[in-house]
Amino acid sequence: MFVILFCLAMPEVVEIPAPTYASVVAPLLNKHCVICHHSGEVAPFPLTSFEDARKRAGFLAKMAEEKRMPPWKAEPGFGEFHDTRILTGEEIVTLKAWADAGAPLGDPARVPPLPVFTEGWQLGKPDLVLEMPGDFDIPADGPDIYRSFVMPTRLKTDQTVAAIEFKPGNHRTVHHAMLFLDSSGEARRKDAADPAHGFGTFGGPGFLPSGTLGGWAPGNKPRRLPEGMGRLLKKDSDIVIQVHYHPTGKMEKDRSKVAIYFTPEPAVQMVAMMPLATRKIDIPPGEKRYNRHVEFTTPEHLRVVTVTPHMHLLGQEMKVRAITPQGKEIPLIWIRHWEFNWQDSYSLVRPLDIPAGSKLVLDAWYDNSAGNPLNPSSPPQRVTWGEQTVDEMCLCFISIVADSPQQLQKVRSAVFLQLFSPKDFLRLMQGK
Ligand code: HEC
Repeated sequence: MFVILFCLAMPEVVEIPAPTYASVVAPLLNKHCVICHHSGEVAPFPLTSFEDARKRAGFLAKMAEEKRMPPWKAEPGFGEFHDTRILTGEEIVTLKAWADAGAPLGDPARVPPLPVFTEGWQLGKPDLVLEMPGDFDIPADGPDIYRSFVMPTRLKTDQTVAAIEFKPGNHRTVHHAMLFLDSSGEARRKDAADPAHGFGTFGGPGFLPSGTLGGWAPGNKPRRLPEGMGRLLKKDSDIVIQVHYHPTGKMEKDRSKVAIYFTPEPAVQMVAMMPLATRKIDIPPGEKRYNRHVEFTTPEHLRVVTVTPHMHLLGQEMKVRAITPQGKEIPLIWIRHWEFNWQDSYSLVRPLDIPAGSKLVLDAWYDNSAGNPLNPSSPPQRVTWGEQTVDEMCLCFISIVADSPQQLQKVRSAVFLQLFSPKDFLRLMQGK
């Protein structure tokens, strides 16, 4: 009896204290946001102090709730990637609760220190550093600029590359970059034909690359390929970087660099690029959900290491998967809400084995209606394959590891035969 009375007399009041900046919000921002949101970086404002976060508390919570920040386009659960940027449900609730409570500071003594931002090359001393030949000027405003720059390697022998690190010369304006290889001299000729540094291209590299070294977007961490694997860098070939610049409201200059790390021993497994693509695109004006479906049956066993989806402004969604001869589905990547502004190269946590005879299947959807705010044409126009802003592409670069050069050759020939006419393939990268 006494016990019951005691309990009734002292009901337990469970009061969950509102989350504070010091206790939970600062650690959360340090973990997920400040890598891009610190001064001099690509994000439009820093999130490195209490004041930075307090005055935008509601906005931060909203972006988190709508899954627009941190930027990460791959659908969770469909493919497993390195360096995933996703907030947990609990973290989203915390940001919201903090904003609703008026964004309290908490105990200032408990605010954790900021992470240390590495200034130098993150993987140690590179074997080769290449820099743009000069400063490239970006006007204060106007449309975004896509520019390719040629960097001759002048290597005397073939090498295999384990990793690269791209370092923007100017974080404020460099939005992302793609790195291609050219051993044909085509990119050099294009560069020479254009009086300013580099040459202009919008989507693809603007020439037929002999390979790729992957891509860079803000927040990317450089990473070595698993031991024994490498990308072939032929002697005397050029590295071509295609940079996407975002005007900032002031005149800007950029001179970006790239560091190359060779494999300690020549790689035994070559990582090569295969395009899963179709040039057959013809999107009628007004079409809201135009679909392209691409299938490629691999004659050989493949191991996939990275995937890099690519579409332009009308791109809406892309899904890439493999289907084994037994009918088992292997997810590769699914970008549910494509954003041209956020192109990434996705590195698989484990190389993915695709048995010989499997189908690689790509589905892409495009919105060419007037209701698409990104539609570059008003009123909407018929859209076909091409390199210009108003054109579209349907392409996923897939980096594969072959067990031997012969095997790679067989896969390449199959790609030509199944997906393109030889003429198509040449045009594919030349942007014609
Ligand atoms: C990988 C880099 C990166 C990370 C990580 C990142 N942001 Fe951003 N953020 C950006 C960029 C770049 C922009 C500018 C808009 C754009 O280009 O998409 C931006 C814009 C924003 C905006 C303004 C959006 C607008 O429409 O004006 C908010 C708010 C924001 N980020 C919050 C966050 C929060 C909160 C986190 C962490 C949970 C975060 N961001 C993590 C790069 C990043």
